[in-house]
Amino acid sequence: MRHFTALSDVEDFPGLLHRAQEIKKNPFHKNHLGKFKTLGLVFFNASLRTRLSTQKAAQNLGLSVIVLNVTADSWKMETEMGVVMNADKAEHIKDAIGVMGLYCDIIGVRAFANLTDQEEDYSEQILLSFVQYAGIPVVSLESAIRHPLQSFADLITIEEYRRKNHPKVVLTWAPHPKALPQAVANSFVEWIKALDCEFVVTHPKGYELAPEFSREVHIEYDQNKALEDADFVYVKNWSSYTHYGQVLSQDIDWMVTPEKMQLTNQGYFMHCLPVRRNVVVSDAVIDGAQSLVLPQAANRVFSAQAVLEAILEHNF
Ligand code: CP
Repeated sequence: MRHFTALSDVEDFPGLLHRAQEIKKNPFHKNHLGKFKTLGLVFFNASLRTRLSTQKAAQNLGLSVIVLNVTADSWKMETEMGVVMNADKAEHIKDAIGVMGLYCDIIGVRAFANLTDQEEDYSEQILLSFVQYAGIPVVSLESAIRHPLQSFADLITIEEYRRKNHPKVVLTWAPHPKALPQAVANSFVEWIKALDCEFVVTHPKGYELAPEFSREVHIEYDQNKALEDADFVYVKNWSSYTHYGQVLSQDIDWMVTPEKMQLTNQGYFMHCLPVRRNVVVSDAVIDGAQSLVLPQAANRVFSAQAVLEAILEHNF
């Protein structure tokens, strides 16, 4: 693996999944692999889990880590190509990426969607600029349209907790007061196809994901029907793709409650966090015995470590 930006970068998914499971049993087995190498983590947006889990994964491999919070610590950056930089932006992203590539051996980048220009967001301009100009392997820490480290951790978690060979997995939209990117939902839909399961997406009309992700996916607009006999309920809000970036519904009936979970096959509740309690999910569900939010967060270390290990082994 050279870069890790989407499932398509992974040559052998079952092999990578197996490796993550092995790393979880023995996290320090390869703690010299990253010796004298540096991982740079570049954040254009806030993070708790991604930042800490990737840093911990890197430490387990003996990597040194440097972190840059672009908006807080760096020069204001121009991201458009070919512009006259005579306003307030002091540094062009192309130059900054080239420099960061000199200081690091692997670079991770988080750059969310702006939710104003669909074409710009779905071109993944910032992530792909890193791939183009860094000259070193690039790991997505969540791009405008995908969150692959999260999806990989989610699949590790489903593998750990599944009670049958062909479980039913439901991705349900839930309400939220703010417009959120589609990245987590897009990525989950992309990655779940790598597992043997029945998969259903449920959301109000108008929340269909981009065709490149939702093609051939079973969509059920009745949430209660979708939840019937589900073994895993993955809950996430996203803003509309078709009415780009808009909040079309805040219907509280879509919140995941104990009554909704009663429809499932004693299903597990999943969410990537952070989550708005009693808006997206009720306290009783997230604090209940079937909640997997902490195992999911724990597995973020092992998804990141398996990816960093593969990059170190194949590129150095
Ligand atoms: N799930 C997730 O990516 O969390 P953070 O945004 O806190 O990194």
